[in-house]
Amino acid sequence: MPSPEKTTVSTVGQVTQLNGWPDGPRGHGPLGNLPELRRDALAFLRHSRAAYGDVFRLRFGPRDVLVVAEPAAAREVLVTKAGSFRKGRGIQKMEDFLGSGLLTAEGEVWRGHRRLMQPAFHRSALEGMAEEIARATQPLLARLEAAARSGEPVDVASEMLRVALRAVAAVLFGAALDERDLRVVERELPPLLTSTTNRVRSPVDWRLPTPSLWREKAAARALDALVHRIIRERRASGAEGNDLLGMLLSARDEEGRGGLTDHELRDEVMTLFLAGHETTATLLTFLFLALSRHPELRERVQAEARERLGDRSPTAADARNLPLLGACIQETLRLYPPAWLVPRQATGPVTVAGVPLPEGTNVSVNIFLLHRGARYWPEPDAFRPGRWLGRERTPEAFMPFGAGARMCIGNHLALMEAAIIAGLVLREFTLEVPGGGPTGLVAGVTLKPDGPVVAKVRSASPSPVRE
Ligand code: HEM
Repeated sequence: MPSPEKTTVSTVGQVTQLNGWPDGPRGHGPLGNLPELRRDALAFLRHSRAAYGDVFRLRFGPRDVLVVAEPAAAREVLVTKAGSFRKGRGIQKMEDFLGSGLLTAEGEVWRGHRRLMQPAFHRSALEGMAEEIARATQPLLARLEAAARSGEPVDVASEMLRVALRAVAAVLFGAALDERDLRVVERELPPLLTSTTNRVRSPVDWRLPTPSLWREKAAARALDALVHRIIRERRASGAEGNDLLGMLLSARDEEGRGGLTDHELRDEVMTLFLAGHETTATLLTFLFLALSRHPELRERVQAEARERLGDRSPTAADARNLPLLGACIQETLRLYPPAWLVPRQATGPVTVAGVPLPEGTNVSVNIFLLHRGARYWPEPDAFRPGRWLGRERTPEAFMPFGAGARMCIGNHLALMEAAIIAGLVLREFTLEVPGGGPTGLVAGVTLKPDGPVVAKVRSASPSPVRE
């Protein structure tokens, strides 16, 4: 627990030493706790929490970081004292690629854009998107059907990345992206994501001019060209369309002012691509992995999908009307939160959990630890979707989409998308991961299984239904 001592700050070289902070693992000179974090970040974090409590100190290289894994303190950082924080260094490093989209922007720019974009993500706006998502799932269903026939196993993680990318593209651009455009996105976006991930994880801020940097710049140029072309075509046609791009093009604030420039639109589109695809893909991968380990539960989820969806293309209302699948999705988000930590940096002196933090302090709200806290969740490591159907849940210790004003703008969309894609797959197919699949986790920018998730596919119903 934090000690009540008065805070004194002294800077030795780049190392800021703070008295009055809670204790934490010792670390290795200027490397701090980086060696342990690189070896197995999650095991180290769990061990540190067990030893030092729900709020503790880590050394990320030369920087002290306050790790927060306690609901009230997390709310202080993200909600009640959010005005004293900005996004952390990791997110700031995404600016090269994302410009000033919602994820990276701060202050008035962020506020203005969030206000403009919020209605496009409102529940009522999701109705039309359900159909696009169901359509974007068809190639996946065709591939699963082929795999069921041939007996060839499928790589679940890469299939989920593909379908989530197509789903977000469909929601953003409707029918404006043809097959060739989609292939450009499929080819160029993943390497950009990988290099962005590496950069976010790096303790240094500079880059060497390596071939991977050139490759990244070329990928960004190709995607830029595509996005700008679609914006140009849409503006020229005068048709707004009821996809997200259409809503963003016609977005005005409450006084009817504003609207985004082409440059701002480009940044927002890239941001939605990036924020909206890997996270949802990871959720779906963990969901299929967990269901494969619980065959009886999976059968019940499959029966629910068949009964409630029939052979229709699911609507937004259908997606909300799959209680068991919904509970499995919530439990997957609890155990495997794709955005497993939310970093912040203090913009001025502020107190969190009674710990006085000087300006510039890095704080890491650790969603993974919060979701695995035995104080908030009985049997925290067990996959027990039933807890979401009864009373046994602790909403204040559950924040897979963050909290406060900067909470995920795509949260309803993500839940609907996951329910539609999983519902469509499960009513037709059984995905079985022989041997139960990888049990370890890798904590990069998103949380991932520590090995390939390879599944055998079986037809689940005697007469497959397909639009
Ligand atoms: C399971 C899927 C998803 C998860 C777990 C997730 C998680 C999160 C989290 C934790 C944040 C808060 C980050 C912070 O406070 O620093 C966030 C922000 C954001 N997410 Fe998501 N997200 C998901 C899907 C989506 C989708 C589908 C979209 C859009 C297509 C999206 C767009 C965004 C944007 C634009 C922000 C920044 C919002 C702002 O700062 O105003 N996300 N997401």
